[in-house]
Amino acid sequence: MGMDYSRAADWIVAENTFDPEHLGKCESVMCQGNGYLCLRNATDEFNPGEQRDLFVAGTFNKFDDNEVTELPNAADISRLDLRLDGVRFSLLTGKVESYDRALHLKNGETVRRVVWAAPNGKRYQLVFSRFVSMERLHLIAQKLSVTPLDGAMTLDIAGGINGQMNNGGSQHFSEGDKRLFEGRHMQYIQTTGQSNIDFVFNTTFSFAMDGVPQEEKGFIVMDRRIIKQEYQVAIPAGKTLTVQKLSTVYTSRDRDSEGLDLAALQNKALAGQEEACALGYDALLAESAKAWAAKVWDNVPVTIHAADPFDQLAIRFAQYHLYVMTPAHDNRMNVGAKGLSGEGYKGHTFWDTEMFVLPYFIYSAPEIARSLEEYRWLSLPGAHKKAAGNHYEGAQFPWESAWIDDGEVTPVWGAADIVTGLPTKIWSGFIEQHITADVAYGAWEYYQATGDQDFMDRCGYELILDTGKFWASRLEEGQDGKLHINDVVGPDEYKEHVDDNAFTNYMAAWNIRKALEYSRMLKASRPDLYQALDTKLGLTALEPQWEDKLSRIYLPQPREDLVIPQDRTYLTLKDIDLTKYKNQQNVGSIYRDYNQEQITHMQVSKQADILIMFLLLEDEFSAEVKRANWSYYEPRTLHDSSLSLSTHCILANDMGNRDLAYSLFRSAAAIDVGPNMKTSDAGIHAGSLAGIWQSVVFGFGGVRMLDGKLRIDPALPDAWTGLDFFLHWHGQKLHVTLTHQAAEIQNLTATAPVTFTVRGTEYHVQDTIRVEL
Ligand code: BGC
Repeated sequence: MGMDYSRAADWIVAENTFDPEHLGKCESVMCQGNGYLCLRNATDEFNPGEQRDLFVAGTFNKFDDNEVTELPNAADISRLDLRLDGVRFSLLTGKVESYDRALHLKNGETVRRVVWAAPNGKRYQLVFSRFVSMERLHLIAQKLSVTPLDGAMTLDIAGGINGQMNNGGSQHFSEGDKRLFEGRHMQYIQTTGQSNIDFVFNTTFSFAMDGVPQEEKGFIVMDRRIIKQEYQVAIPAGKTLTVQKLSTVYTSRDRDSEGLDLAALQNKALAGQEEACALGYDALLAESAKAWAAKVWDNVPVTIHAADPFDQLAIRFAQYHLYVMTPAHDNRMNVGAKGLSGEGYKGHTFWDTEMFVLPYFIYSAPEIARSLEEYRWLSLPGAHKKAAGNHYEGAQFPWESAWIDDGEVTPVWGAADIVTGLPTKIWSGFIEQHITADVAYGAWEYYQATGDQDFMDRCGYELILDTGKFWASRLEEGQDGKLHINDVVGPDEYKEHVDDNAFTNYMAAWNIRKALEYSRMLKASRPDLYQALDTKLGLTALEPQWEDKLSRIYLPQPREDLVIPQDRTYLTLKDIDLTKYKNQQNVGSIYRDYNQEQITHMQVSKQADILIMFLLLEDEFSAEVKRANWSYYEPRTLHDSSLSLSTHCILANDMGNRDLAYSLFRSAAAIDVGPNMKTSDAGIHAGSLAGIWQSVVFGFGGVRMLDGKLRIDPALPDAWTGLDFFLHWHGQKLHVTLTHQAAEIQNLTATAPVTFTVRGTEYHVQDTIRVEL
């Protein structure tokens, strides 16, 4: 019942029963996209409770002054209304005799096979297929095959473009032209209300009987925000009618359409539509599958050798979604916390990018990682605005960001407060400040692993220096002569208005240290660049400040029992019995008993806080300190953010607890591709999916970049016999093959040696090296 992972070895995520109570699960986990657009997998036929979403990356719009900007839910092209011999096709009526919906990760296609008996007893077989092209960013393709099982039939089918969609009631678009071209291509224009982005949709039906193309005359219908065609087709007994519906979407935000007026964009879109229609579903699917292979499956596959194929499925599922969600085509865009798979988090970008998603791309597709960090550089004006608004200097990155010049876009009000009966205020946009150091860290990590000097010269140094400038202005003089960071939210969002959150302070200190180092280095060896940055940022005045402040910033130290206080008061707060919440089915159950104010005063954490610092600043803390803090904080952590488990998994492995690491990996993997039917309703978990890759490669593979050096210290779980993956490092592509006994590292590029350590010994590889473990 429900989800079916039994075909994991065939790259298939499936559901084997239609579950109208849990439509959100497959809509999200089977969403399809290419980073430009993403379509949720709502069934072709309408179902109450469905969430039919289509998002185009970067097309943010603000509905009104009381709301924050969000990705608007664009017109729908996926819905088909079917009548079989006059009876409306709905799985909520009649009898579903067999049912299977499968997402094929390899080619990105979903196929839903249904044998349905109508309430009058007449039986039909329907096969619904669809994909979003990885080759043509604008294309969505659908195919439906209908076979009558009890004699001949008549099919009524209606579909088109429906601009009546909204985001939770907010209508982001005004309606533009509707038109039918050549009797077959339907075109619909819609324009966002505030950001003024034009969307041009085209959609076209075509028909074939037993594979032979067949002309059908449709009846065109135009209504408010709708254009559709209605067809009636007779299907003889024993025959199969195949209906194709090919659709494209173009927008005026597309980089390659900049400067075009609407008429020119319409023409361009129509030309793209005609080209796709000339090829047809099967040829388009073949070229898309080829693009998937070239980009991912033949390029950077991760192979897990294990008796149970689920782990392999989980990592492929994670990779699939990483490419569906990431707008690699445009550096003015970034990854949303729910990718492009749902309305959750409004398409906004968080620290999830640098801490979770970015490492995947640094090591798998560095050019995409660069694009994600260029987005941060392009967003500097918004970061300056935020800093100035708070009376700070330099660049303060927004906790949530959308379009590059939007600045802070975190909503101010959230879920109900069960005590006051009012909405809870969301403080992250005001005081969750560690994001600024996280961004700097991401840029630095990218540079360390790639050596991309061009990026550093254009963007990287500036990002690190400008954020260093922010922190210098942010520090507060304490009575103890130390510099503090008061009144923040750390990664553990269950604690608000805390002072000296350890993660924030250590990361701020790291940021200032790097800024000072780079400033001095540039002055000494890159005078031209130094001068340009000095003029922009005032480095000459900043250097002595950085030096002084770095020596005085307060860094919480381990107590006698080696526990580092997460913030100034955490360790003094009351402990409550957390068993109930530790055993919860769905996250956030503590909010059913306590409000935010009460939770702030208990020793309970939402997610990894201190612990994630041990990953980023690994060599600043001893193994004993890490262990002591794990033992203290993990029992108090509810893992109520999906980001938490993968961090814990990697650390458990670092601490030598492979069994625990493996069980945490399994839990992390099951957040989206698991049995729970409620977890993915608002969208998949972008950071957590990237965290699956990190658990595999950084955790079990033991890969880490430490101060610019590559380390590979594998420790595979007992359930695996081998692990195989690829890493990009300074322009060289490495193939890493691991077993319990040995690590084999092959330099596929072989134009320069790559230096790395295994268990403390240094190696250089220009061809292939085998290291016994
Ligand atoms: C987490 C944040 C995260 C955000 C978006 C929140 O629940 O606490 O750390 O950035 O979700 O994924």
